[in-house]
Amino acid sequence: MGDKSFRVAVVGATGAVGNLMVQVLEERAFPVAELKLLASARSVGRTLKFKGGSIAVEELREDSFKDIEVALFSAGGSVSRKFGPVAAESGCIVIDNSSAFRMDPKVPLIVPEVNPEAVIPRPGIIANPNCSTIQMVVALKPIFDAVGIRRIVVTTFQAVSGTGKRAIEELRQQVAQLSEGRPITREIYPHQIAFNCFPHIGAFLDNGFTEEEMKMVNETRKIFNDPDIAVCATTVRIPVYFGHSESVNIETRRPISVAEVRDLLGRAEGVVVVDDPARAGYPLPIHAAGRDETFVGRIRQDPSVENGLAMWVVADNIRKGAATNAVQIAELLLARNMI
Ligand code: A2P
Repeated sequence: MGDKSFRVAVVGATGAVGNLMVQVLEERAFPVAELKLLASARSVGRTLKFKGGSIAVEELREDSFKDIEVALFSAGGSVSRKFGPVAAESGCIVIDNSSAFRMDPKVPLIVPEVNPEAVIPRPGIIANPNCSTIQMVVALKPIFDAVGIRRIVVTTFQAVSGTGKRAIEELRQQVAQLSEGRPITREIYPHQIAFNCFPHIGAFLDNGFTEEEMKMVNETRKIFNDPDIAVCATTVRIPVYFGHSESVNIETRRPISVAEVRDLLGRAEGVVVVDDPARAGYPLPIHAAGRDETFVGRIRQDPSVENGLAMWVVADNIRKGAATNAVQIAELLLARNMI
């Protein structure tokens, strides 16, 4: 990677994704000269581990980015809207995990295995897509390139870590409360999440879909640079801590066999095929958790429609779905001499 190293900031460093961003920067040996950890005033006084040392968390302020070259944001949309442009104006490149800028036509929306050609140089904001979208487009990209995709029908089974630390705690508490026969407490979700599931992620919109569902529609079109792909999503929260699963049903433009799909996906960057039904072999969130790849299995022809395929796609939502993808975007910028 050369000799250059960078002054990096992580915004939301005390959160589920932010904390993992710090860990992934270390794991992947991104060349960090200096790391600044930013969060709310509540976290001042805390320290986080990085490369064997500990770094004090600082309060996020407008002047936090003066000496920073790369800022990874994961503190929610309102923090990104307020501080993202401030950071970009001070000359650093912002890689933003929130949905604040994803659909802005001036902002690239990047999955490095899928659309690396869409990155633009500093200064500016680059958006990290929604977790459910990232793993789906990683799995579909080789098929899209080979035979085109006309339509996608996807149902997701999403882990609570996507909502953040407090949601992880809410599931833990409810599991304990129910197993001890106590009444549950509930703050984050609209319903009990332990031993339950609900088709409600993000607010409901006028068209009857949720925000999460429309993110999958709009972000998929933007990443594939194809406004004509039809996408229908149903997003479901389930009581799993880490790892989103997706039932993905597609109609391709030209025919392709299951064997060809297996072969294409078997050679695709960032994809692992786990497809051995005879031995109950298919991707599971407990296996994907802690991994950076996207796992695909249950690949089969859908006989109910011409050129139909069905598959099952699983990835760690806070790694490939968030922190790892963000660090990979930084690596892509570095490889292209854009930072
Ligand atoms: P803090 O821990 O100080 O509240 P999660 O998604 O896991 O809930 O994490 C959210 C992250 O975003 C945390 O690091 C949180 O910091 C940070 N955050 C939330 N609101 C703000 C804010 N107004 N300013 C700075 N950081 C914020």
